[in-house]
Amino acid sequence: MYNVYEIRKQFPMLDGKKMMQGKPLVFLDNCSTTFKPQCVINAMNKYYMEETANSHRGDYDLMFNVDQKVQGVRKKIAEFVNAEPNEVVFTAGDSMSINLVAWGYGIKYLKKGDEILLTEAEHASNILPWYKVCEMTGAVVKFIPLDEEGRLTLDNVRKTITNNTKIVSVAHVTNVLGYICDIKGIAKIAHEHGALCVVDGAQSVPHIKTDFKDWDIDFLGFSAHKMCGPTGIGALIGKYELLDKMDPFLMGGGMNAKFNMCGDVTLLDPPSKFEAGTQNISGIFGFGAAIDFINEIGIENIHQHEIELRKYCLEKLEGFDNIIIYNKNAISGMLTFNIKGVFAQDEATLLNSKGIAVRSGQHCAKILNDFLKTPATVRMSPYLYTTKEEIDVFVDAIINGGDILDAYFN
Ligand code: ALA
Repeated sequence: MYNVYEIRKQFPMLDGKKMMQGKPLVFLDNCSTTFKPQCVINAMNKYYMEETANSHRGDYDLMFNVDQKVQGVRKKIAEFVNAEPNEVVFTAGDSMSINLVAWGYGIKYLKKGDEILLTEAEHASNILPWYKVCEMTGAVVKFIPLDEEGRLTLDNVRKTITNNTKIVSVAHVTNVLGYICDIKGIAKIAHEHGALCVVDGAQSVPHIKTDFKDWDIDFLGFSAHKMCGPTGIGALIGKYELLDKMDPFLMGGGMNAKFNMCGDVTLLDPPSKFEAGTQNISGIFGFGAAIDFINEIGIENIHQHEIELRKYCLEKLEGFDNIIIYNKNAISGMLTFNIKGVFAQDEATLLNSKGIAVRSGQHCAKILNDFLKTPATVRMSPYLYTTKEEIDVFVDAIINGGDILDAYFN
């Protein structure tokens, strides 16, 4: 039985005392980042208070313990997404993960005339690294058309892909509309054309079951901070044979086996060759604690909870014709909307005045607004600790409005 009230007790940010604009805080911007349970904070603090040492650099007990724990978290992440531990590279987050593929694989292997397929719904993190690859190699980006609702369909992948396509890079769950694409089907089509499938998992891994092996995808990036973990840590999962042929984009300690004065350098095997410098060790320990926390609740239960909240919210909004919802049929938590005649940032400001945190604007997906035919939208995104009572506060605020809405109503 999913007990959201018990879950909330584990989050210092949800102690009931946090206020915004003098109102109890209602945090509905979980696609941006999430709150951290005490166990994650404790895991990070413990490293600083009791376990501090570097990793991979010595033979004393304290350091050995750090090494063991880092490897333990790597294994935990691998199990969480069904990959092998040596396919898990620690990164600073999803943006760095995708950049690592772009710089380490794209720039090394792509050439003039090669194609990279993306969609208009992608976050900047899954567009700008590929623009860089194009600038440096002469490859070109092509956009797979979205259907009329803004979804990525297999049909449109088939219509756009050619034998020149080398990379298909898409979000499994898009960050504005929240649609879940058939990633296994997309990977299959990519492979039939000799292309790789790169997946931006920032909005999917924290919310739905991920199966790297079964989907047969080639790379997957995601961030810990969107799944109750710390900021500044994430992972790139890559098929080992691809990681092996890729170049690192950071050189330094901890990633080489030997080097000499002639400039000969022998790198370590993946994943170590991508982890130059001292790692974010407390972040890694916090990441591990976040995965334990999510496993304890169950990722399927989390997804179900979000779907129920979204359904509850949509039912309450039914009949209010002044509310434009852009993703009514998405099977994920986020709800993206505008109030007719009200600029999105004004709506978010109004909600802020009532203690409610939502994101407004373009959500880093700056091409999608042309598709949606609006300069900006408001996004409400719940997570595993969001309650129906919080949805009630949110719905009341957007229906009953206030001064800013009044000023803009048609
Ligand atoms: N990627 C985060 C979002 O979509 C920041 O809000």
